[in-house]
Amino acid sequence: MMKRSLGSSGIQVSAMGMGCWAIGGPWTMRGQQAGWGTVDDDESIRAIHCALEQGVTFFDTAANYGCGHSERIVGRALAGRRDQVVIATKFGYRVDEETRCVEFYDDDVNSDQVVHHLRQDCEASLRRLGLDYIDLYQFHINDYSPAKAAAVRDALEELVSEGRIRFYGWSTDHPEGARVFAEGKHCVAIQHDLNVIKDAPQVLAVCDEFGLASINRSPLVRGAITGKYTADSKFQPNDIRHRDYFQREWLVPTLEKLDAIRKILTSDGRTLAQGALAWIWARSARTIPIPGIRSVAQATENAEAMRFGPLGDDSMREIERLLRR
Ligand SMILES: NC(=O)c1ccc[n+]([C@@H]2O[C@H](COP(=O)([O-])OP(=O)(O)OC[C@H]3O[C@@H](n4cnc5c(N)ncnc54)[C@H](OP(=O)(O)O)[C@@H]3O)[C@@H](O)[C@H]2O)c1
Repeated sequence: MMKRSLGSSGIQVSAMGMGCWAIGGPWTMRGQQAGWGTVDDDESIRAIHCALEQGVTFFDTAANYGCGHSERIVGRALAGRRDQVVIATKFGYRVDEETRCVEFYDDDVNSDQVVHHLRQDCEASLRRLGLDYIDLYQFHINDYSPAKAAAVRDALEELVSEGRIRFYGWSTDHPEGARVFAEGKHCVAIQHDLNVIKDAPQVLAVCDEFGLASINRSPLVRGAITGKYTADSKFQPNDIRHRDYFQREWLVPTLEKLDAIRKILTSDGRTLAQGALAWIWARSARTIPIPGIRSVAQATENAEAMRFGPLGDDSMREIERLLRR
């Protein structure tokens, strides 16, 4: 089974983790749909068990996902298996479990309330997950000001010394912010977008410089690289993919490039999803893709990608050539 290091933590995890956003079900972020439509909790739990049986040991969730629902499902599914798994979750927003609405504290992306609420938010996640400590606690606000991030980092160090979290990281696509967190002793990971359509050389360079894990969100380009959508695909109104921005930012750019690289991604018998994961592993030895999974079939197909391993150097070069990068 392929393994990767969680930065300098000394923790080894499966080279692929399970993304647990979709299994949170519907919720809104600042008034907009932010879930992936209706979910079947029993199937979500079966998917988590299936992933675990296939060797997946790393699970990524967030307080936001379904306003605590994803954390509860992860907690239920993994109860009694604490020693077999590494659990990551995220904080930084005001989460209303009753209304299933998420807002910025003070309606401000850079609110100081993030630090003031940190302990309370951590306790709420621990309660929902049914844990005594969180393995990796990640700051969820992508665009938070790097100038203010040191205060968040230092508050996280306190949570480490209190034993409520083991390590922390930031889910951000901004290398300047990543650098501020990387200065912290127990910062071991940056979570960021990385997939065959959207490379992230600057954040990967920070991970190299500081010895951090690169946890890769949206590794399947939000499903668009799997070949199951067309430009005309329709989604339920409570699905984030119903919004125009999914078409614009994710679907159309991917479909424009997919045909050019389909043959290479599916070489050696891989499916498209497996090829997309293989590209990420070949991109850097620090990468840990966390595809969003919500069925046993997806858990099985994605976990099987670890048996094939990374794409070869020739395939990687050919993809760069075909995508004119
Ligand atoms: N700001 C943040 O911190 C942030 C942002 C984004 C994501 N994340 C994390 O990263 C994880 C993954 O990112 P993501 O959910 O944005 O996108 P993704 O992993 O690129 O795509 C997920 C979607 O791909 C489809 N899928 C998965 N496996 C498949 C397979 N084998 N065959 C066909 N379709 C498959 C599923 O679609 P269906 O729903 O149609 O089945 C799934 O919902 C999230 O779950 C979350 O943990 C974090």
